[in-house]
Amino acid sequence: MEIKKIAVLGAGQMGNGIAHVCAQAGYEVIMRDIEQRFVDKGMETIKKNLERGLKKDRITQDEVDATLARITGELDLKAAVKDVDLVIEAIPEIVKLKLDTWREVDNFAPEHAILASNTSSISITQMAAVTKRPEKFIGMHFFNPVPVMGLVEIIKGQATDDETVKVIEEVSHKVGKKTVLVNEAPGFAVNRLLVPAINEAVFAIQEGVATVEDMDLAIKLGLNWPMGPLTLADFVGLDTLLYISDYFVEEFKDSKYRAPALLRKMVRAGWVGRKAGKGFYDYSGDEPKPMRF
Ligand code: 3HC
Repeated sequence: MEIKKIAVLGAGQMGNGIAHVCAQAGYEVIMRDIEQRFVDKGMETIKKNLERGLKKDRITQDEVDATLARITGELDLKAAVKDVDLVIEAIPEIVKLKLDTWREVDNFAPEHAILASNTSSISITQMAAVTKRPEKFIGMHFFNPVPVMGLVEIIKGQATDDETVKVIEEVSHKVGKKTVLVNEAPGFAVNRLLVPAINEAVFAIQEGVATVEDMDLAIKLGLNWPMGPLTLADFVGLDTLLYISDYFVEEFKDSKYRAPALLRKMVRAGWVGRKAGKGFYDYSGDEPKPMRF
């Protein structure tokens, strides 16, 4: 089966990145969100990120123009998926929202289309089960920032067939990513490690072990991470981290995955990281300023 046209559901942080790399690889892309302002913001981000490449002579103006010309914005779900070969969903991590969306997509998308979720933790099998094509349902987990990060974690649900895995491996390779194949389990491979690691850094802050900037510097230089764990927490979004931690506790039935109280308090305050202008750092000035706890 050859994939030519892809619908990306969600134009946010992950969705616009996925639309960007798919269009740059030559696929026809429909980027769908529920309001025009979200679609416009997604398109703006794609333009900005393509221009980074242009400034560094990584791509030509013709490639930028051709990439942008391959992306169409859309608000209507039916119109977005009606004649595509692959649907990649990158909508918020809310189980009910995902299940409702997949039921609709399953009704509107052509029978041959593969359905892929970019979920960071939710069960692929649970989502596949609300469709009439669980064998064509798969997890396709990209990493932020999508144009830069080299991995797609491919997650096989209980009923996913080998042909679907093969097609999604090919698409991932064509968009320039390496792949790992993971059998379904909460958090798959990467977030199972990453989320407890970030939580442990937050526990350390909560207990007064180190300041935010020292914890970040320690891990950045001591472990050679590109970003310290608290900078990364702000980058991923504290709401997402809390959601995943709570989901882990529920799924693994193991309190070792519990979120620190500080993380929950910050989410309740709306300090969810870079996108909110405040998290473990305050982003209102020229340089991020570490917060005191
Ligand atoms: N979009 C596109 N390109 C970007 C970008 C963005 N948002 N941010 C940076 N870049 C590009 C830059 O243009 C630059 O390109 P070049 O190599 O061609 O010059 C390159 O990335 C490096 O950027 P900078 O020099 O500006 O900055 P850094 O060297 O600090 O790199 C970073 C920035 C790539 C974000 C790096 O800090 C990093 O890798 N951080 C860790 C990111 C990470 O761990 N992501 C995974 C999060 S977990 C996740 O997504 C899963 C989810 O389920 C929770």
